[in-house]
Amino acid sequence: MTANDLAEIVSRASAGAKLIVVSNREPVVHERVEGGVTVLRPASGLVTAIEPIVRAVGGTWIAHGSGSADRVAADERGRVLLPPNDPKYTLQRVWLTRGEEDGYYYGLANTALWPLCHHVYVRPHFSRRDWETYRTVNRKFRDAVLEEAGEDPAIVFIQDYHLALLPRFIKEARPDIRVIQFWHIPWPNRETFRIFPYAEELLDGLLGNDLLAFHIKYYCRNFLGTVDRGIESRVDYEHFRAFRGGHPTYVRAFPISVDHAQIGRDAESPSVTQRIDGFRKELGENNGARLFVGADRIDYTKGIPERLRAFDVMLSCHPELRTKVTLVQLSAPSRTHIEAYRILNDNLDDLVDEINWRHQTDTWMPIRFLRAHHDYHAVLAAYRMAHVAVVTSLHDGMNLVAKEFVSSRTDGDGILILSKYTGAARELADALLVNPYDIDQMADAMYSAYLMPEAARRQRMEKMRAQVTKNNVYRWGARIFEETERTLSREVA
Ligand code: F6P
Repeated sequence: MTANDLAEIVSRASAGAKLIVVSNREPVVHERVEGGVTVLRPASGLVTAIEPIVRAVGGTWIAHGSGSADRVAADERGRVLLPPNDPKYTLQRVWLTRGEEDGYYYGLANTALWPLCHHVYVRPHFSRRDWETYRTVNRKFRDAVLEEAGEDPAIVFIQDYHLALLPRFIKEARPDIRVIQFWHIPWPNRETFRIFPYAEELLDGLLGNDLLAFHIKYYCRNFLGTVDRGIESRVDYEHFRAFRGGHPTYVRAFPISVDHAQIGRDAESPSVTQRIDGFRKELGENNGARLFVGADRIDYTKGIPERLRAFDVMLSCHPELRTKVTLVQLSAPSRTHIEAYRILNDNLDDLVDEINWRHQTDTWMPIRFLRAHHDYHAVLAAYRMAHVAVVTSLHDGMNLVAKEFVSSRTDGDGILILSKYTGAARELADALLVNPYDIDQMADAMYSAYLMPEAARRQRMEKMRAQVTKNNVYRWGARIFEETERTLSREVA
């Protein structure tokens, strides 16, 4: 499936309606730096997946303008044409006050819903004030959607857990607008969800959707179970849909993906080759070692301390590997205003020091912890240099680092160690699958990866590449829009 195939499918499914994509995170962030403005691509699976789709089909993408130079980089209505040198779509920025960002993004979305949905033993915190702010901000997004739609027919494609009330708000104002939502994180079972104090209103918001999609069927079942218990409605398990006030919301699983072919081309570009040289210089004496690479936002769901500890155990069990392996951890700071994230950052510094101190030699350092916002080409360079990529999330809806790594390895080599608690593990069965809570097992997997013969590495990589080629992000988008068309015609009939 190509970008053009998808564009055709979307144009047929939308039958002339305007396409409006809505997310909290924007595809590009303009930041003020000394002497000017710099443009960043955020470290976000959502952006990795959605940007190629919007680029292929056109339309408007409404998102929070969070960068310090976002206002100066946009026109007076908050609009930016993207990509700048060959515009294909419009980014419409929504402005939030600091208090709104605090209550809606740091508060309700990331201190309540994020830990609740991932349940990795970090306690969610609830606050009525945050909930009220979340509601206010969802209304702000609704106003932006309605303004963009004008009087015209429209299809609105909402992303993620920041905007759970938006579908209902849109339907109240414009019942004719088709509303689709993709929930990028897990949906927990109903026992876990029942502690959420504002469950009924949130579920009512989501049941404003015509189609609500998750990565895997397990989350769809959890969602239907939660609705069944949490709100007056009729759940039809056979057809995976829920009726509220007579209106059906279809619930479907579509595992998200990446633009596999484009990542492969980018990974072979001169800019990536340059970055590889840069990394080699930076690694200095470590240069000859086999690289284990991790690339994550610094988030407690990603299992970064567990990964570092497993590397530590491997080195303790196999001291002959000293100087022969290095773990390069690219870590993008994230949500640092939240206490749990600040604690994680501090703990990581201590842990890296402790492990390095234990094993280092005069010329070799076991772990290189590179905390920074690494741009796309730098991340691709690290993937290309990796003997092993290590993805050890404690729980992850999908994890696109795994798929990006596979896509970048046009050379056919490289091993993926992958947590079995990621959505990606269901498709990438040829990775070395691990339980990230079991440090010893992960250490064993790392050691097997170190020893794995080239023929076996290539065989596994070939199968994983075939899988991501087949289910690329355009196929993901096409399935969502085809399903929208199908369910709509069923309703009309
Ligand atoms: O799916 C969760 C998600 O929204 C992903 O798109 C992305 O990887 C991550 O969270 C980004 O977080 P944030 O937008 O808070 O930086």
